[in-house]
Amino acid sequence: CGIVGYIGFRDAYPIIIKGLQRLEYRGYDSAGIALLDLESHLNIYKKAGKVQDLENFIEEKDKSGVIGMGHTRWATHGAPTDRNSHPHESESGNLAIIHNGIIENYGALKEEMISRGHVFKSDTDTEVLIHLIEDIQNKAGIDLQQAVREALKEVIGAYAIVIMSKKDPEMLIAARKGSPLVIGVGKKEYFIASDATPIVEYTNNVIYLDDNEIAYLKTDELVIRTIDNTIKTPYVQELEIKLEMLEKGGYEHFMLKEIYEQPRSIYDCMRGRIYPLEGKVQLGGIKEYTEKFKNAQRIIIVACGTSWHAGLVGEYLIEEYARIPVEVEYASEFRYRNPIINENDIVIAISQSGETADTMAAIEMAKEKGATIFGICNVVGASIPRLSHAGIYTHAGPEIGVASTKAFTAQVTALTLMAFYMAETKGTIAKSKLIGLLSELERIPKLVEKALQSDQYILSIAEKFKDVRNALFLGRGSGFPVALEGALKLKEISYIHAEGYPAAEMKHGPIALIDEEMPVIVIATKNSSYEKVISNIQEVKARKGVVIAIVTEGDTEVTKMADYSIEIPHTDEAFLPLIATIPLQLLSYHIAVLRGSNVDQPRNLAKSVTVE
Ligand code: G6P
Repeated sequence: CGIVGYIGFRDAYPIIIKGLQRLEYRGYDSAGIALLDLESHLNIYKKAGKVQDLENFIEEKDKSGVIGMGHTRWATHGAPTDRNSHPHESESGNLAIIHNGIIENYGALKEEMISRGHVFKSDTDTEVLIHLIEDIQNKAGIDLQQAVREALKEVIGAYAIVIMSKKDPEMLIAARKGSPLVIGVGKKEYFIASDATPIVEYTNNVIYLDDNEIAYLKTDELVIRTIDNTIKTPYVQELEIKLEMLEKGGYEHFMLKEIYEQPRSIYDCMRGRIYPLEGKVQLGGIKEYTEKFKNAQRIIIVACGTSWHAGLVGEYLIEEYARIPVEVEYASEFRYRNPIINENDIVIAISQSGETADTMAAIEMAKEKGATIFGICNVVGASIPRLSHAGIYTHAGPEIGVASTKAFTAQVTALTLMAFYMAETKGTIAKSKLIGLLSELERIPKLVEKALQSDQYILSIAEKFKDVRNALFLGRGSGFPVALEGALKLKEISYIHAEGYPAAEMKHGPIALIDEEMPVIVIATKNSSYEKVISNIQEVKARKGVVIAIVTEGDTEVTKMADYSIEIPHTDEAFLPLIATIPLQLLSYHIAVLRGSNVDQPRNLAKSVTVE
């Protein structure tokens, strides 16, 4: 979900609405806004649907106020309806709140309040929290600031909240625990948001609130206190992102723009980190932990979604070059087992957003058991980098399309660097070999550019397959995670059922699905498993399946057999995922556009899943 808040001298409404549009990529089944003017009129408007629906709804209404807050919601508790949208009000209507995260003990709190006569207007956990705050305020006769602190002590769960009060029409209160909040610092004005995207237009100076901190904002004053009432000195940082990074820049969709940005984003990820001539990799972020991975018995990679696929590629690379055993785990599964972890283990957490709740919980558990945590994240200053002992940023720039593209290839690049760095430090790779690999890695942005040139041809293939109901993606070795990622992309944005499979496993099940209608997309580039993949293609063809092959430039053998062949430039097997992923992204993109789906904001999905 997304949060925006403003307090200052300007009209809050346009700032909040624009901020919500910028945040819409994070979660979007409903949206709402609250505006407070200095005469204490509090207007709340909310609507199920897109921010645009909310805007239409408010068009004729009173939009005045120099204090405001807005929310886009991805439903957890309660269906996406008008009444469940945020902001929510307290019993008296004096207080309003917006909230990201989950209040886990809301059921018990709610029952207790209902028994005392409280009436709730929604099914949300959020409404319970604002009732609780007002209750504490009334009961004890204490001020709002203290009531918020007391209430948050009673709450179990994760939250980023913003509160406004009719009785204190000059103040906004914001608090965080486990869900991000950024405060933008202007001249006699402050901005609040769940990430920096709504703020960057107005100021580059930001404060990232820490867990258990509460910010009290007035036009010309900011006070941060912990939940235990200790005053904290705000630490103002400069933002790295620029406004143009948040615009489509002439592309029809953010996703397409981000696909095309990959030569640049991969380059940015390795910039200043590789020295091909000397056969050296430099990763300042994990340098201090050299001894740790030299002695590591095992590396566990935890992640979700696309980041998990990047983890699978990482497994191949780290085992191949650094010779450390690697396990790749879904964060959500890992944390609910009783995994065996000890002080010699390194846990690599991969996350574009740096905010995924399951990944954060997995880190916390591993940390408790003494493991060393390396984070690989894209969003600078997010929660996961802050929770990690060390790590590296992927530097792909803001990714707005919900379906991850450039963040994935940047994660794979970062893992490649990590694998080489570990290998070099441990001495498990020959200098000459590393020199060769790094020189090839340096060429990858160019090769990605070349792979992008098949775009029109891929569009023509997409036209033929846009109406299929199922698709199968096959690959071997590091081509397998590529197949998984290809299938996920197609599912996410075109709503076609797709499965990724290790090519050799096809005969143990999916082969039963193959008929004249079923496209089978095969990673069949010239590397160690080329011959084996050819056999798999023959198995598909023997059952009249339709084969779309991703092949190495100049290939004739597979090209003869396949119905369609998309060429990609040749590269070392180590970097295959960086190139082979590109045509699959484009294929999904074009199919989704042809089917008329909302490519950047596919139904039911959120960019950043801050719930468990
Ligand atoms: C969501 C997004 C995916 C993403 C996954 C993990 O499901 O829609 O694109 O791969 O979360 O997110 P993270 O930010 O941790 O990489």
